[in-house]
Amino acid sequence: MNTLPSSAPSHPTEPVVTRRALLRAAAAAPVLALPALSRAQQAPASTSFVPQVGQQGKDVIWVPTPDALVDRMLRMAQVTPNDFVVDLGAGDGKIAIAAARDFKCRSLGVEYNPDMVGVARRNAEKAGVANLAKFEQGDIFAFDYSAATVVTMYLLPGLNLKLRPTLLKMKPGTRLVTHQFTMGSWEPDDSTTVDGRPGYLWIVPASVGGGWKLATTDARGTSEANASFTQVFQNVTGTVRMSSMEGRMRAVKLSGDRIVFDLMDDRGVLRSYDGRVVGDRIEGSTRAADGATGTFVAQRTGAATPVDAGRD
Ligand SMILES: C[S@@+](CC[C@H](N)C(=O)[O-])C[C@H]1O[C@@H](n2cnc3c(N)ncnc32)[C@H](O)[C@@H]1O
Repeated sequence: MNTLPSSAPSHPTEPVVTRRALLRAAAAAPVLALPALSRAQQAPASTSFVPQVGQQGKDVIWVPTPDALVDRMLRMAQVTPNDFVVDLGAGDGKIAIAAARDFKCRSLGVEYNPDMVGVARRNAEKAGVANLAKFEQGDIFAFDYSAATVVTMYLLPGLNLKLRPTLLKMKPGTRLVTHQFTMGSWEPDDSTTVDGRPGYLWIVPASVGGGWKLATTDARGTSEANASFTQVFQNVTGTVRMSSMEGRMRAVKLSGDRIVFDLMDDRGVLRSYDGRVVGDRIEGSTRAADGATGTFVAQRTGAATPVDAGRD
């Protein structure tokens, strides 16, 4: 039977309630821990470390995410064989292993505890995915995981917040999925509960806040405008100035590097814009209300505003 530490180790700034939540999850999860234990017990003497649910970790204890939620988290992120999934704080490796086994993609688990790295590597061997699922000993706050296209986490709210600035600098469109804990005022793009346990998805938004010069070209000719986006995470509003007209963009939606919005020009023509943000440039297509199609290019005119707008 697994025993839990009498006091829950965690980040010193974590509220007691989140430590209790993890421990409750640990107490409810002994069955989930059993496969890892029996696998470890069968291992040769040199690799006989037996993980205990609730054991100390550097910044958070080890509690495995239940299989059904692991599957749901990876599906929320729409993992494909082209992805590279990185699990921050990998424990026994089950998320990275599931990504490789069920979604045929490369994966990496970063884990501080070297004994758990050994357990995870052996579990990947047993699952037949050691070629795709790798594990490295490291501290998630020092490790470079910028090549990931999907990042998974079962940490603590304060740890998620501490990681958030780094996560927000990842390539736009990178998917982040967490078990149980959120990202402060950064609202998730999707959420789920599986057997009462919450999972959340965020899509790293491109940086669009600030001023842009917008050129729109279609059969009516080319028109130029000064546009400005106000951004708080993935939430964006926009305004535009064209000759003597000032107006508001309608239905602005940013998802990763894709931005769409509607805009009425100074001649009263309403167009839908659909573009991709690449650094300081946005390029895409337009469709006027009468069906006429065209293209647009936007170029930054000033400094980008911070994506998190100074929140939290
Ligand atoms: C709650 S468990 C989650 C395990 C796994 N991701 C899952 O969902 O099944 C958190 C894991 O993070 C590890 N950990 C804690 N602090 C860490 C740090 N700074 N760097 C790397 N791993 C860490 C712990 O050892 C533990 O295995």
